[in-house]
Amino acid sequence: TKRWNVTNMEKDITKNIEEAVSVLLAGDTVAFPTETVYGLGADATSERAVAKIFEAKGRPQDNPLIAHIATKEQLTKLVTDIPDYVDKLIDLFAPGPITFVLPSNGVCADNVTAGLSTIGVRMPSHPVAQQLLRACNIPIAAPSANLSGKPSPTSAEHVWGDLYGRIAGVVDGGATGVGVESTVIDCTQDIPVVLRPGGITREQLEAAVGTVMVDPALVNKDEKPRAPGMKYRHYSPDIDLWLIKGKPADIEKFINDVREEGKKVGFMASEHTSHLVKADKNLSLGFDAKEIASNLYDALRAFKHGDVDVIVCEAFSEEGIGQAIMNRLKKAASQYIEL
Ligand code: TXA
Ligand code: MG
Repeated sequence: TKRWNVTNMEKDITKNIEEAVSVLLAGDTVAFPTETVYGLGADATSERAVAKIFEAKGRPQDNPLIAHIATKEQLTKLVTDIPDYVDKLIDLFAPGPITFVLPSNGVCADNVTAGLSTIGVRMPSHPVAQQLLRACNIPIAAPSANLSGKPSPTSAEHVWGDLYGRIAGVVDGGATGVGVESTVIDCTQDIPVVLRPGGITREQLEAAVGTVMVDPALVNKDEKPRAPGMKYRHYSPDIDLWLIKGKPADIEKFINDVREEGKKVGFMASEHTSHLVKADKNLSLGFDAKEIASNLYDALRAFKHGDVDVIVCEAFSEEGIGQAIMNRLKKAASQYIEL
C-alpha cells in the first residue's frame, strides 16, 4: 500500500495525484479524501476493478456503490433521466455532500449497482477529489474507505489502520471536513426521497425544492430500508457504545452507577455537556452540531480496550446535520437509554 501526501497542495498535488490516477486507470484501488469521508476508489466501468473494493472492505455483495464524477456533464453519461428538481439541487449543492440515485444507463459495471436498475452518483467538492476525478475522466466507484462495519474514515490514518495491505494506495489529504457521509436521495420519482441523511440537511433540501420525503425506514426500525447499505449495523466502535438522553446531572448519576459496578466509562458529548459530567475519560466532540459531525468518527475510533469498558455518548438534537449524527449514533450504539 502506497501513500501519497497532498496536504501541502501547491507543492506536490499534481505529481502525487498523477501516480494515484495511473494506479486507478490500471484497475487498482486507491483511497482518497472527499469533503465527507475518505472513499475507496476504483474504475467504475470495470467489473474486475470494482470487485477489488468489495474484497478489500469485506463488503456485502448486495450493497451498491456510489459513482463519483467531477462535473455535471459526466452525469448525463451515466443515467437515462434527470428530473428538473435534480438540476436545481445540483445548481445549489453540487459539487458537495449529496448523492443522487437515478435510473442507470448501464455504463457502470453491474457490481457497482449490485444489480439494481438505479445508480447513485455524487460530485465531491474536496479539491483533491476534484483533481483526481478530472484527471481520471472516468466515473470512480467509491464507498467509504473503512473495513465494512467500522466507522467511516475521516483521516488517512483511519484508512491506513483499516486497509493497509489490502489496497494499492492512499492519497493523504489530511482530515476531511463535514465528517458524516453524503445525503443519499432517491430521485427516480416526482418527489425526492432521502434514503440516508448526510451533509446536506433535509431543511436545506426542502428550502430548495419544496416537499421532500424520507425513507420510512429512517423513522421506523421495522421497515426495510431502500438504500441496501442502511440495513447493516454500522459505524461500530471496538468498544460497546450506549447512547443516552437526559439531563447532565442524571447522566452523571447513571455513569457513577456503572462505575460502581467496576466498569470504566468513557463519555462522549458536546463541549458544554462534557464540562458538566465526569467519567473515567471525557471526550468533547465540539461546541456545535457542525463540529460534532466533523469529529464524530474519529471519536468513535479514539477509545481503546484497556482505557474504558464502555462508551456512553450523549444524544443530540435531530435538527439540521443532527439528523445524520443521530442516524449514525443509533446504528453504532447497542442501546439507547432515555433517562
Ligand atoms: O459521502 C459519501 O457518500 C462517501 C464518500 C466516499 O463519497 N461514500 C459513501 O459510500 O458513504 P458508502 O458505499 O459507504 O455508502 C453508500 C450508501 C449505501 O447505504 C448504499 O446502499 C447506498 O448509498 N446506495 C448506493 N447506490 C444506491 C442505489 N442505487 N440505490 C439505493 N441506495 C444506494
Ligand atoms: Mg460506508
